[in-house]
Amino acid sequence: MITGKTLITGVIGHPIEHSFSPPMHNNAYTQMNMDYKYVPFHVQPADVKNIITAAKTMNIKGLNVTIPHKTTIIPYLDEIDETARRINAVNTISFKDGIAKGYNTDGLGAIKSIQKYTNLKNKKVLVIGAGGASKAITFTLINEGIDDLVIANRSKENVDKLMKNLINETKFQNISYQPIAKTNEVINDVDIIINTTPIGMYPNHDVEPPIDTNNISTQHTVMDIIYNPLETNLLKQAKINGAQTIPGTHMLINQGIIAFEIFTGKTPSYESFEKPLLEHLKK
Ligand SMILES: NC(=O)c1ccc[n+]([C@@H]2O[C@H](COP(=O)([O-])OP(=O)(O)OC[C@H]3O[C@@H](n4cnc5c(N)ncnc54)[C@H](OP(=O)(O)O)[C@@H]3O)[C@@H](O)[C@H]2O)c1
Repeated sequence: MITGKTLITGVIGHPIEHSFSPPMHNNAYTQMNMDYKYVPFHVQPADVKNIITAAKTMNIKGLNVTIPHKTTIIPYLDEIDETARRINAVNTISFKDGIAKGYNTDGLGAIKSIQKYTNLKNKKVLVIGAGGASKAITFTLINEGIDDLVIANRSKENVDKLMKNLINETKFQNISYQPIAKTNEVINDVDIIINTTPIGMYPNHDVEPPIDTNNISTQHTVMDIIYNPLETNLLKQAKINGAQTIPGTHMLINQGIIAFEIFTGKTPSYESFEKPLLEHLKK
């Protein structure tokens, strides 16, 4: 029941109706007996300048931010966490004592998902894609102490921009580019493979994996950040070849759990986020 005491959190985006965050957060609030509700807010790009003032005015306690507002919201924040500043994208905003502070939990959500299966320190990682998610993940991988980063992408221009940014911000030098069609040549040298492109995502899920999977083997941990379908063709093939596979739902759940902690100071169980997400994905 919503009363005058109920605290409000939510997510802003355009479009927003397909967001999986409301069922995850609301289920955790119910399970933890917390008087909070998590609401999806449809915000047009032209209105992003009004969001922080509106949220403060209405005593909103926290907001997640999704496409297309992750970067355009930044000038309106009071403070920004160092990782989010480096990535130049915010997906979580806390409101405390009148201060709106932006964070980015995507990278940490991905890293937490991998660390459940393998250590990142001194590892060699191949990341496919150089878009927004890749940027958050590659920054966080470097922070976690990986040894070597190979980025494969369709557009060389976009990789060059990302690599320049990563080197400028982190001073990490062991970064190289590999054409997406030639990833097979480097697969034997890497430990972890992460797909951050939408290749294989529903409704276009019945396609070839983004890379040649022939050389993927038991030495590899392969994560696809696509969460619909639960098992992409890349993961299916990697599993057949004996690799440890991690579906994109893990990242989605972990980035949400970190945002929940930022909003409320409390840690929900993994299961309280996973159950409603899997139910929604089945629909
Ligand atoms: N699990 C999670 O929590 C989570 C979080 C965020 C995002 N995601 C998923 O991650 C995916 C990417 O999101 P994003 O925000 O990073 O998107 P984005 O910024 O648009 O970047 C997309 C990347 O994929 C590449 N790409 C797109 N279509 C391609 C194609 N047909 N062939 C080859 N490369 C292609 C692009 O290459 P170019 O540079 O050549 O254009 C770019 O590097 C989406 O499927 C999204 O749903 C999942």
